[in-house]
Amino acid sequence: MTAKKPLPGDLEAIESASRDEISALQLQRLQWSVRHTYDNVVHFKAKCDAQGVHPDDLKTLTDLAKFPFTTKLDLRDNYPFGLFAVPRNQVVRVHASSGTTGKPIVVGYTQQDIDTWAQLMARSMRAAGARAGDICQISYGYGLFTGGLGAHYGAEKLGCMVVPISGGQTEKQVQLIQDFKPDILMATPSYSLVIAEEFEKLGIPPEEISLKIGMFGAEPWGEGMRGEIEQKLGLDAIDIYGLTEVIGPGVACECIEAKDGPVIWEDHFYPEIINPETGEVLPDGESGELVFTSLSKQAMPVIRYRTRDLTRLLAPTARSFRRIDRITGRSDDMLIIRGVNVFPTQIEEQILRDKRLSGNYQIILSRDAHLDQVEVRCELQREVSFALTQPQIDALGKELQHHIKTNIGISTHITVLKFDSIPRTLAGKARRLIDERPKQL
Ligand code: DLL
Repeated sequence: MTAKKPLPGDLEAIESASRDEISALQLQRLQWSVRHTYDNVVHFKAKCDAQGVHPDDLKTLTDLAKFPFTTKLDLRDNYPFGLFAVPRNQVVRVHASSGTTGKPIVVGYTQQDIDTWAQLMARSMRAAGARAGDICQISYGYGLFTGGLGAHYGAEKLGCMVVPISGGQTEKQVQLIQDFKPDILMATPSYSLVIAEEFEKLGIPPEEISLKIGMFGAEPWGEGMRGEIEQKLGLDAIDIYGLTEVIGPGVACECIEAKDGPVIWEDHFYPEIINPETGEVLPDGESGELVFTSLSKQAMPVIRYRTRDLTRLLAPTARSFRRIDRITGRSDDMLIIRGVNVFPTQIEEQILRDKRLSGNYQIILSRDAHLDQVEVRCELQREVSFALTQPQIDALGKELQHHIKTNIGISTHITVLKFDSIPRTLAGKARRLIDERPKQL
């Protein structure tokens, strides 16, 4: 695990620019982005007008605080294409992520957006220590999730040979690592440990595994897990951060020489930290909710998008851009289960599709062999509780499991209980979620 210092030519000029140069570029791009959104997205214009704020009011970077926030609800209410700022025929790709219920949220990209994203993913990979000619195994899911294709385009742009295996098929993952000898693995941190365990099972020690760099993200993880992955796979584990609404993976990425928190690519994304209760902007170093404004996106710009991720902004170290600390939690109830974003309300929605089930349920999360396990305990309605036979109850459970898998994308274990088996909450909120997963250190 030898951290390489970047060589001259490894960095784009902006990565080592002065703070003044960065701020000047940010202001110029911010003014463009806010005007572009105001002129082309009816919903954003209406929100600005209601708040009495206009793109002309944006004279300094701090003036951004006058503008309205964008939330997941804005994306949901404008499903599918209502927040596009370019004509539909200029959009060359869409991706999607979880909404709180029902429909997912959708984002779009122009060809230029795809190119920018690939450039930023290539930059992230360089920061992680990857170079042209490396072999890169991509074990993030391909499809509507941004992980697979986002990493793929970046790796190709950097000049890597890509192995686009996607997620799952652990034995095959390990077989290909042995045969192709990739230098880089891109996966969720929890899945990388499943791969590591498969190597252990085969009796292959870390020194014999070709991987040198792992780029892990899409779910929270901590220093304890970094140590474990590095030791078991014999590589440098790098934290990469991103979210669908802002672009996908590659909003921020750690540098291998520092490994001190993801560096935000501030020339394309302007960060703020706010108090999640009041919306007030907090100074660097204080913990709060991370908010991003896209500075160059054409198809679906986002102005002050509330990520709901709790963290703080840290001073620049290895690059001229600021960093984020580890994500310590969220200011909403979104769960990340094996890298899939899930809202408890989405599970509730599937339960309530079946009239025989009551709205009393519990979701129990645990971790077994590094992977999240989900049990959904639900309860029969009083009227059917004693009328249904065991085979009927089993079939009902299977049906619910299938609906959750096909609509939300996660595997669950379903327990169907008789009426009144789940404890009622007599005061305060129902305790719907029991998270028994070990805390990330
Ligand atoms: O998870 C994009 C991604 C793919 C990032 C691959 C990194 C690698 P979403 O599915 O929209 O996008 O989920 C975004 O995941 O708001 C965070 O809560 C969480 N998240 C992403 N990266 C990290 C990370 C992708 N490095 C949501 N550490 C975000 C902690 C992360 N949480």
